Amino acid sequence: MYSTLIFLHSLTRWFVVISLIYAIYRAYTGFKSQRPFSKADNSVRHWTATIAHVQLIIGILVYTQSPSIKYFWKHSKEALQNWDVTFYSLVHALIMLLAIVVLTIGSAKAKRMEPDSEKFKTMLLWFFIAFILIFIAIPWPFSPLSNRPYFR
Ligand code: HEM
Repeated sequence: MYSTLIFLHSLTRWFVVISLIYAIYRAYTGFKSQRPFSKADNSVRHWTATIAHVQLIIGILVYTQSPSIKYFWKHSKEALQNWDVTFYSLVHALIMLLAIVVLTIGSAKAKRMEPDSEKFKTMLLWFFIAFILIFIAIPWPFSPLSNRPYFR
């Protein structure tokens, strides 16, 4: 169960990152060229937020099952001396939660904005902030914070 969740959580990270890059690209080119905000743009906005929400749910499930998180909440004093455990228990989870809140607000705001150029601008700004937060908190093999493989 736990290894399946970690596998899914690791895999879904790629869908989150790729969909965000694509959404940011569309928002940027849409704003620059002043083209209309199409149905396809709206789908990209919607699905990018949905993929992040799926990852949020998997993340919460991982959090409830992870042996290191259980250790953290049982023996917080000792666990705080272990950076890797502290990273996932507090830093990773909180930054990702914040990023998904930012993404959700941006998506909801963009949906309601008028005219179309404001939709693109809102999506660009909020999705870009969410992307930076997510990129920093992902344990890439090259991250100075914590490393995990690209694929499980
Ligand atoms: C966009 C959101 C997120 C992304 C892209 C993401 C990505 C990742 C990645 C790539 C890993 C390493 C998996 C591995 O071991 O190979 C990981 C680990 C983990 N994530 Fe997330 N995560 C996100 C959100 C969350 C959230 C919201 C939570 C909890 C509320 C969470 C909890 C965890 C935990 C506890 C681990 C480590 C588990 C362990 O090593 O025991 N994640 N995450």
